[in-house]
Amino acid sequence: MAKRGKWKSSLGFVLAAAGSAVGLGNIWRFPYVTGKNGGAVFLFVYILAVIFLGLVVMYAELSLGRATQKNPVGAFEKIKPGSLWKGVGFLGVFTGVGILSYYSVIAGWTLYYFYISSLGKFTGNITRTQVDKIFASFVSNPLLTIVMLFLFILLTSFVVSRGISSGIEKWTGVLMPLLFLILLVLSIYSLTLPGASRGLSFYLRPDFSKLNLRMILSAVGQAFFSLSLGMGAMITYGSYLSRDENLFASGLEVVGFDTLVAFLAGIIIFPTVFTYGLSPQAGVPLVFKTLPFTFSRLPLGRLFGPLFFFLLAIAALTSTISLVEVATSYLVDEKKMARPLAAYMVGGVAFLIGIPSALSTSSRFFSNFAFGKSFLDIMDYLWANISLPLGALLLSIFVAYVWGARNAAMEIRPDKARKFPGEDLWVIDIKFFVPIVLGIILISALLGFS
Ligand code: TRP
Repeated sequence: MAKRGKWKSSLGFVLAAAGSAVGLGNIWRFPYVTGKNGGAVFLFVYILAVIFLGLVVMYAELSLGRATQKNPVGAFEKIKPGSLWKGVGFLGVFTGVGILSYYSVIAGWTLYYFYISSLGKFTGNITRTQVDKIFASFVSNPLLTIVMLFLFILLTSFVVSRGISSGIEKWTGVLMPLLFLILLVLSIYSLTLPGASRGLSFYLRPDFSKLNLRMILSAVGQAFFSLSLGMGAMITYGSYLSRDENLFASGLEVVGFDTLVAFLAGIIIFPTVFTYGLSPQAGVPLVFKTLPFTFSRLPLGRLFGPLFFFLLAIAALTSTISLVEVATSYLVDEKKMARPLAAYMVGGVAFLIGIPSALSTSSRFFSNFAFGKSFLDIMDYLWANISLPLGALLLSIFVAYVWGARNAAMEIRPDKARKFPGEDLWVIDIKFFVPIVLGIILISALLGFS
């Protein structure tokens, strides 16, 4: 049997895992839900959710992967052979392909926007109507959106086909530092805008009277999605780690980096939004409609426009890589399939399932598919709002009660003879707090509440 892949360095692993976590969820979705939920209060709740739920489940996934050295299906099977638990692994494999199928549609948009902003489409005194038109004519073009989807998945499968250290690690090792640099430049630039102080006060001065349950649920959901938890992506990435890796430190670094990137995305968006009198609640249009307009008005917009969309495309790519890798690792480990074949097959399936999502903005049939929602929105609801919390809930029950929280904790300890900082709290958290909160999230999603 071919030798299983491994990360070459500790930093390489952290960058790859952070690459999975940092994605459209951080740069596009986070500022938009923060804007919709009142700004700073949401940020506050989000950070609590990251620490007390996200980080806790991150350790659960990484430790299960590293301990078993297996893909999600194999990992459950190894700890509890012959049981139904491997079904949670299968759920993860399917969820990965499901998310990949529509996530890559939006990722394809970023690729197209990078292309047209490089051509200088958003310069001079272009009007908002013109910007809106560019968006509308792009998303209503079925062929173009499908081609972009295809290109994005192809690129992803290509990277994954090259393997762990010479594919994923090599690419994310270059892309992530670049992304961070672009993000820093744009943040600093944004802070010099005239509306910066109004933007920052919206973003950083919490008004606790706006706190409500729906906001808390959406902050928790955002935290799990952003950290790539609930479908075994981190089990898979953890499984390519060697025994001497310090899981405690790596987990903290990945979570810290992801949160920092989301935070910086807010620092870029809100001052810009307030400077140009736009609405912080614009959602999809925030990135694809209002920002190009904004860039066209900035002195260095000709440079920052393409830079921003390049950044988004990179962030999306390092995330789709992890979505393809979960199913690929299953096919390679369990079905002994050659890695390139597996990677292109997974991509091919996601592409086919993704076509109706790509058509959700152009075809009347798919744009109002069911319940007044588009096909893409329904996919997002099913996979991100229902399947991910379900996967995370079952995973935490498995780690806490079937494998045993203390066994997992041993795996996280840098020094086996001593508890890791906060270990007792982690054990209580994964046994009680995490399952209860995820149960509530899942029920409210099933009732159509969130
Ligand atoms: N975390 C990524 C983002 O924020 C998306 C993503 C990649 C993901 N892999 C995942 C989400 C696995 C959930 C599970 O955009």
